[in-house]
Amino acid sequence: MNIKALNGFKDVLPGEVEQWQRVETAARDIFARFNFSEIRLPILEKTDLFARAIGETTDIVEKEMYTFVDKQVTMRPEATASLLRAYIEHGLHVQKPVQRLFTIGPMFRHERPQKGRLRQFHQMDVEVLGSADPRVDAELMAMGALLLHELGLSVTLEMNSLGCPACRPAFRTALLTFLEERHESLCDDCKRRSSTNPLRVLDCKNPRCREQVLEAPSLLDFLCAGCADHLRLVQEGLEQLGVVYSLNKFMVRGLDYYTRTTFEFITADLGAQAAVGAGGRYDGLVEQLGGPKVSGIGFALGMERLVLLLQQQETEAASASPALFVAGIGEQASGYAFGLTHALRRAGMAVAMDLEGRSLKSQMKQAGKLKAANVLIIGDDELAASLAQIRNMNTQQQQNVELQETAATVQALLQLTSSSPLTSTSI
Ligand code: HAM
Repeated sequence: MNIKALNGFKDVLPGEVEQWQRVETAARDIFARFNFSEIRLPILEKTDLFARAIGETTDIVEKEMYTFVDKQVTMRPEATASLLRAYIEHGLHVQKPVQRLFTIGPMFRHERPQKGRLRQFHQMDVEVLGSADPRVDAELMAMGALLLHELGLSVTLEMNSLGCPACRPAFRTALLTFLEERHESLCDDCKRRSSTNPLRVLDCKNPRCREQVLEAPSLLDFLCAGCADHLRLVQEGLEQLGVVYSLNKFMVRGLDYYTRTTFEFITADLGAQAAVGAGGRYDGLVEQLGGPKVSGIGFALGMERLVLLLQQQETEAASASPALFVAGIGEQASGYAFGLTHALRRAGMAVAMDLEGRSLKSQMKQAGKLKAANVLIIGDDELAASLAQIRNMNTQQQQNVELQETAATVQALLQLTSSSPLTSTSI
């Protein structure tokens, strides 16, 4: 029986996994620089949490959740709701008035799989809870932009304001009137959405709908004084931090919890799946979920899309090559190499060796394939003389090293490795 992975679920194989690690390492580094702490959350939550946080009439809740109907639990489709649940449950607001948290892990949505769109995908999600300051909005966008820049990716930032419960109803009414006049020209999804969730029509990808909404009223014209002020201060903050962005009045998000600032990091290189990351402010959501009256804002980056972009934009991947390949030739030398390899690994070096008794030629080939920085060659004769050859694979220079005691050799090798002729690539 030939069992394959589920459609939309993907293995990450060696070769690609290094790019994932590179993305995650860069993110963890930046998150630490911006004073975020990690939080780890369960994958399964009560269905009601997502229905209440994300919104009953969103695509995610209506059609994309993996729910165990008999148990009323759901595999998380995003991290924000779970993180807020944990924040409320553990009273994290009492510990610190402003919490800066991040979490990394898999999310699940039953979407139609395609390039950059999976059913199990991974997000790096950051949230700031307890601050309504518009500078936080600017700071978060700047942090996302900096991470993408440090990964060598070229991505643009788009921003919008979705107003608040005070100003959105007037906009909704104006939009409903506008959509009613064009009802017949909308796609079937939008015909349905225009009464349940009219804002979603604004970012429908169907060309017919796109054309219809070109003249639609803009939320930016309906903002109340508080929201307009907030937007102005966010823009000033972005300018002060030197973050390049554009305002996109059509941007609405697929989750209902947003208020005021929303933003997306966009690429032209991934076809329809243009957003590599997205987020926004959600003042009111924590309270709605039974927590204190605190503001919140955050965003999530899609790891699959970042890795695809790294591959496409051909940025240099970090190498996972060993610093040393130990080639033992002959029975005795190979036995010695086996012990030495372990001693070197114990001492902190990334070391590879052949356990199949291959010839020197094929071991050298293997070392080349692994991109080992150095090869230590030990033959039975050399072993008898307590000697080995070490070859720098970049310069092809070879020199003798003495194999006295293992510990001394480890010492010597580690010193050699950290000094000039032998360069360590991966440890
Ligand atoms: P989202 O826009 O649904 O927002 O997802 C954020 C990012 O996750 C997207 O920009 C995309 O890169 C990635 N993503 C989403 N769905 C898929 C998929 N099916 N396959 C691959 N990648 C995907 C949220 O999830 C919000 N919780 C973000 C947020 C945090 N807002 C405030 N705080």
